[in-house]
Amino acid sequence: MSTPILRIQNLQCHFGGLRALDGASFDVSAKKVTGLIGPNGAGKTTLFNCISGLLPKTAGTVVFKGVDISTNSPDKITNRGLMRTFQLARGCPRMTVFEHLMLYGRSQSGEGVIAALMGGKKVSIEEAELRDKALALAKRLKLDHVLDNLVTALSGGQKKLLEIGRALMSEPELILLDEPMAGVNPALVEQIAEHLKDIRARGCSILLIEHEMALIEALCDDVVVMAEGKFLTRGSFSEVASNKTVQEAYLGMKRS
Ligand SMILES: Nc1ncnc2c1ncn2[C@@H]1O[C@H](COP(=O)(O)OP(=O)(O)OP(=O)(O)O)[C@@H](O)[C@H]1O
Ligand SMILES: [Mg+2]
Repeated sequence: MSTPILRIQNLQCHFGGLRALDGASFDVSAKKVTGLIGPNGAGKTTLFNCISGLLPKTAGTVVFKGVDISTNSPDKITNRGLMRTFQLARGCPRMTVFEHLMLYGRSQSGEGVIAALMGGKKVSIEEAELRDKALALAKRLKLDHVLDNLVTALSGGQKKLLEIGRALMSEPELILLDEPMAGVNPALVEQIAEHLKDIRARGCSILLIEHEMALIEALCDDVVVMAEGKFLTRGSFSEVASNKTVQEAYLGMKRS
């Protein structure tokens, strides 16, 4: 395994008596696509919530690029270069696609708002750079024709693309993707898969939660399996798919 960009060590997250994460530990390789699979309720989304600072950890540590980020705020984690998308795409209802991208580009640095208050030349330069970045990203994700549409008017698949775009605005080094292709029509799934390959080719590391095994096989260099809040095993797709313990973990827990 190449150098890890992220190390998850003994991560625990309890909701009352429920151990959603129960001592999960594994590394995420740099510049690769790592698949994260496991039955419904295995704790995958909870893991993303804990890594990205949205949920308090009961115990354990998260180390990103050699720095312990376990107690960092979500903003600080984002600014360090770690972004995540949500299983259910979010969106500010009254914003257009363009405004949405601009907002997230701005909130990453934290400088845009201060500069805007101070006024002056710096603002216009930053604003122009941000605009260029949002336009280029929209073009890359084929969202340029809906830039002026309200986020709420997008199709499910376009919302998923916008989630990816939002995450990419901050030029992350690691991106956590929570089922970016779930519920999306086949043509758009293909398109999103190509974008993920492109993101990897540009040197960004990806941790990808996905239930569709054909996509995991096609996209991932390495696959981590979780069950009942714990790390179960890891390996190539074929190693993991033929593992009896993995098959047992899925038994009777197939997604409806
Ligand atoms: N905020 C919460 N409060 C209470 N229980 C929660 C909360 N979030 C998650 N859980 C529970 O924690 C467990 C793990 O949930 P999680 O959403 O992380 O699973 P998952 O692996 O992402 O599943 P899926 O594949 O269905 O998305 C489940 O039993 C879930 O009901
Ligand atoms: Mg989930």
